[in-house]
Amino acid sequence: MESRVAVIGGGNMGYALGCSLVHKVLNKPEDLLIVERKGNRAEYILNALKCNVEQKINSRVREFGIIVVAVKPQEAEEALHELKEYIFERHIVISIMAGVPISFISDKLGGHERIVRCMPNLPGQIGVGITVYFGRYGFSAEDYVAVERVLSSMGAVLRVAEEDLIDGATAISGTGPGYMFYIIDSMVSAAVDLGFSYREAESMIAEFIKGSVELWLQSDLKPDTLLKMVASEGGTTEAALVVFNKHHLDEIIRDGIKAAYERAKKLIG
Ligand SMILES: NC(=O)c1ccc[n+]([C@@H]2O[C@H](COP(=O)([O-])OP(=O)(O)OC[C@H]3O[C@@H](n4cnc5c(N)ncnc54)[C@H](OP(=O)(O)O)[C@@H]3O)[C@@H](O)[C@H]2O)c1
Repeated sequence: MESRVAVIGGGNMGYALGCSLVHKVLNKPEDLLIVERKGNRAEYILNALKCNVEQKINSRVREFGIIVVAVKPQEAEEALHELKEYIFERHIVISIMAGVPISFISDKLGGHERIVRCMPNLPGQIGVGITVYFGRYGFSAEDYVAVERVLSSMGAVLRVAEEDLIDGATAISGTGPGYMFYIIDSMVSAAVDLGFSYREAESMIAEFIKGSVELWLQSDLKPDTLLKMVASEGGTTEAALVVFNKHHLDEIIRDGIKAAYERAKKLIG
């Protein structure tokens, strides 16, 4: 039963998760149900994945042991209200909704206990994301295996010991790809200013970012040590760092992440 998965909401994330599940994890497409209320979107999903598709939450969710809630935070109350009628005690409910606390989900589901809250990220759409998750209580080791089987279809998985860390993960790994694209976009513009074509700039920047991350992971050194290695006295890195430090870039980054964290805590408030 836990090997069959229902996903509520077939939008960006719900559909991407459905694709990964069908292609990597589930034995057959019939082990997946996607509930998507928009008719044209539901039809698209049916054609693309050949899985079960419904346009309204109904008794069919009882055939699936794991239910993933992938609607927008502001749509949570309505979707959970619809789901409440069909939920049974053994169901594992996984929420990917940013900023929606387990207590809220449990309350709307009539006190349901087996709830996992997680935070995936955009690269999960191509299987190279990181999903951070927290399970409140009532889970066995086998339950965690079943949960991680679903989440690992989107890439790496990290279980944390406190629910508050899910809001933290929202501000770090959930929002993080956005920070990267912001920085990448600025660097591409700077390279174009120096005379490179847009394509040349993109390929140089993509390669040095991949290479830097690979070096970091393989060397086992901390980022500040690697920074010292590259920033020799009187060199070009040092010249750039003088400017970054003059503008307190490290504080700006910390403040931005803090703002994302505060927003994560207020998403449904
Ligand atoms: N996008 C990201 O990178 C990202 C990363 C981490 C987490 N998340 C979380 O993932 C969740 C989904 O985000 P998204 O970008 O995939 O949103 P989305 O594209 O709007 O997808 C949600 C889909 O669910 C449908 N829906 C809403 N209520 C429904 C119901 N009761 N029954 C059936 N279908 C219903 C919506 O239809 P309507 O359009 O008609 O409302 C929409 O098609 C959010 O809670 C977000 O916080 C997103």
